[in-house]
Amino acid sequence: MRIDIISVVPDLLKSPFDASILKRAIEAKLVEVHIHNLRDYTTDNYKSVDDYQFGGGAGMVMTIEPIDKCISKLKSERDYDEVIYMTPDGDVLNQSIANQLSLKGNIIILCGHYKGVDQRVRDHFITKEISIGDYVLSGGELGAAVLCDAIIRLIPGVLGNETSALTDSFQDNLLAPPIYTRPRSYKGWNAPELLFSGNFPAIEKWREEKALEHTKNRRPDLLKE
Ligand code: ADE
Repeated sequence: MRIDIISVVPDLLKSPFDASILKRAIEAKLVEVHIHNLRDYTTDNYKSVDDYQFGGGAGMVMTIEPIDKCISKLKSERDYDEVIYMTPDGDVLNQSIANQLSLKGNIIILCGHYKGVDQRVRDHFITKEISIGDYVLSGGELGAAVLCDAIIRLIPGVLGNETSALTDSFQDNLLAPPIYTRPRSYKGWNAPELLFSGNFPAIEKWREEKALEHTKNRRPDLLKE
């Protein structure tokens, strides 16, 4: 898989890909992540990529031309399955969207800034709009990093234990059950006895029950879906 991210603040995207699982996935060539500075695509002397809103109103708007130049250059080099725009009014990211995107070959992610992009960018280039939640960030970069993390960890081979992504919260519309590790007892707080019984069918059943109970308590909306 190849992910191209277009941003006016590319520095914001350095560290998420330079540590831990994402770094290892890139080093293992399971994914390529390329970050493009939108200012490299402007002909403006001041490297400006935004302008005043037609009709008046507070806030600047990202102009079409640099975005067109960057996306068109990328598209001239390879085919893309999706051109995603990170925006608070997009579809709210969930596990199902991450699962679908992890199966794609090449995707472009455009990070919004200021008031956002000229509507014609959305009309003519964007195939999917994604929000990471009902709150407004200062730009799409952190959202893009979240989206990439959610996608990349699902690519086969990225997680050491292939099954571990399948047992994540949300994969079956259930939150994950509680988990325990050593020590067995800490300050008199004991891990559940059943987990030491060696009775794996009973442990599996217990985990399913706990996952259901936890989901009922915390996210009953997931059970209705
Ligand atoms: N840009 C600004 N806010 C955002 C959000 N909530 N999700 C994705 N991109 C954004």
